[in-house]
Amino acid sequence: DKGEYRHFMLKEIHEQPRVVRRTLEGRLGDGQVLVEAFGPGAAELFARVRNVQIVACGTSYHAGMVARYWLEELAGVPCQVEVASEFRYRKVAVQPDSLFVSISQSGETADTLAALRNARDAGYLASLAICNVAISSLVRESDLTLLTQAGPEIGVASTKAFTTQLVALMLLTLSLGQARATLDRGVEAELVSELRCLPTRLGEALAMDAVIEQVAEFFADKHHTLFLGRGAQYPVAMEGALKLKEISYIHAEAYPAGELKHGPLALVDSDMPVVTVAPNNELVEKLKSNLQEVRARGGELIVFADVRAGLENGEGIRLVNMPHISDALAPILYTIPLQLLSYHVAVFKGTDVDQPRNLAKSVTVE
Ligand code: F6R
Repeated sequence: DKGEYRHFMLKEIHEQPRVVRRTLEGRLGDGQVLVEAFGPGAAELFARVRNVQIVACGTSYHAGMVARYWLEELAGVPCQVEVASEFRYRKVAVQPDSLFVSISQSGETADTLAALRNARDAGYLASLAICNVAISSLVRESDLTLLTQAGPEIGVASTKAFTTQLVALMLLTLSLGQARATLDRGVEAELVSELRCLPTRLGEALAMDAVIEQVAEFFADKHHTLFLGRGAQYPVAMEGALKLKEISYIHAEAYPAGELKHGPLALVDSDMPVVTVAPNNELVEKLKSNLQEVRARGGELIVFADVRAGLENGEGIRLVNMPHISDALAPILYTIPLQLLSYHVAVFKGTDVDQPRNLAKSVTVE
């Protein structure tokens, strides 16, 4: 039932504060994450982990890409991320004491399942599924599971599944950091308290819907777009580009902002809007110079930035001010306006938002 919403996708976007809260429920203690949420014996197992291999497809792969930044920076664990359709068909050199992590909304994606089955005898320490469906092949066949509590996702374009995957992956990062004693307890406590406030921040981002709808109108007659991000916001840009292609059929490509001058800048002109996710961190100054490169070529910029980032609206720059949030949780917050943007562009274009052409909700065949 879509309730008051015009599409399932919009309903599911607006459910995010609630399902994120549900995904955190019972998994946070006093100033620390509860590692047992991953199952009995998880703490002992995690203490032995020296490497993480993540495998997933599509949107779930983008969640894994964000997690790599978190795992390496916060928990000090080396991490590789690969799309399942590649991983399953190649000979992988398995790192010692490596945890195999699969991420999937449905738990039935053929490539992800095949990758897990290949991994079984490959010498991983254990397999962990981050999944939204309790009764699924992926959960059944993995050693450990952490369920995302997104509830049924009807819209083909994944929204609330992605943000709850990110929350689950942050819990994994904190758990590995705690069990391996590689994450400062004060930092863990700080992140735990920020996680508790996250649903409220997501609600604030959703309240900007009308502003984003105005921005979306500008895209209705465009055929190409670039999405830029740096650090953990690069996979967020990838996810934003995927959403736009899927439901509005506008060609969208994501680049790490620093790659712009290594090729894609040649494409930029007044018909090619450039969407940038720019949180307030040490990378913002670098991003500012990327933005100037785009402006110098007549490119139209749409910038989602922290209110404290010191960016200004101007000729050719549409700035959307985002609530302030820590760098660590920024990828979750900045996903929201990109989801709303692609939703509204699709509505302006009159495409079938919930059932995009050529796509199926669950890809159970190769
Ligand atoms: C994009 C989308 C797909 C899925 C992908 C993996 O909006 O929904 O890219 O993310 O097919 O599906 P799951 O997560 O079910 O394995």
